[in-house]
Amino acid sequence: MKTVGVFDSGVGGLSVLRALLAELPGTRFVYVADSAHAPYGERSAAEVSARTDRITAHLREAHGIDALVLACNTATAHAIDELRKTHPDLPVVGVEPALKPAATSSRSGRIGVLATRGTLGSARFAQLLERQIHAATRPLHFSCQPCDGLADAIERHDAPATLALCERYLQTLSEQAGPDMDTLVLGCTHYPFAAEVLSRLCGPQVTLVDTGTPVARRTRQVLGTTATAGGSATPPLLLASASPDALAQAAQRWLNIQIPASGLPV
Ligand code: DGL
Repeated sequence: MKTVGVFDSGVGGLSVLRALLAELPGTRFVYVADSAHAPYGERSAAEVSARTDRITAHLREAHGIDALVLACNTATAHAIDELRKTHPDLPVVGVEPALKPAATSSRSGRIGVLATRGTLGSARFAQLLERQIHAATRPLHFSCQPCDGLADAIERHDAPATLALCERYLQTLSEQAGPDMDTLVLGCTHYPFAAEVLSRLCGPQVTLVDTGTPVARRTRQVLGTTATAGGSATPPLLLASASPDALAQAAQRWLNIQIPASGLPV
């Protein structure tokens, strides 16, 4: 059985783990929430990169992972290139805001992007944006909104704060994007857990796009594994650098998995 590490600053990567469990039921997943250092979105690239290195080394040494899913847009933006250089023998699948699928499916060409300040300010995101605009055969307009505090509110499962921040950021976004915006990219793995609120605030004319399923399919390709339909799922191992109980509760709430989480020793 293959072992795959899945890593995020906190509980957000559970949105990717959910898709991975559905796509690859016969795989053992070790999920790490770096809760002691969350949120990553407002940390420096160097700090995020250092934590990503440390956790990857631990996942290799203690759990012998065959591949790593960097289930965090911010860590992918800041650390994936260096990580692939340091670990050339480890397949690493990253997560990036789904600009390309949004560009393909949007009818109006007016697309909103919600992500962390770190992701939107990164050179990697600038290149991704540039590629979509360059490749497009029609005018595309991306309105990008950094969402300080939103991942943290979702992390704390604070519904009033989540609602207030979603209202505030969507208001600013709609002023930029205009009434024709028909697609909203959830460019942070925490945001699918606020999808209901976001969807209600945006209205039915806006389609929300996230990356869980495409990342799970990519992981399957990388592992060269054929998922066994109907096979029994192996429960993931849950590790957190702080508050393991909060991770276990989030897994129960959002993935319907009832297992304890343990502390991460790095
Ligand atoms: N879930 C992460 C992301 O996809 C990080 C959010 C945060 O820690 O700020 O960007």
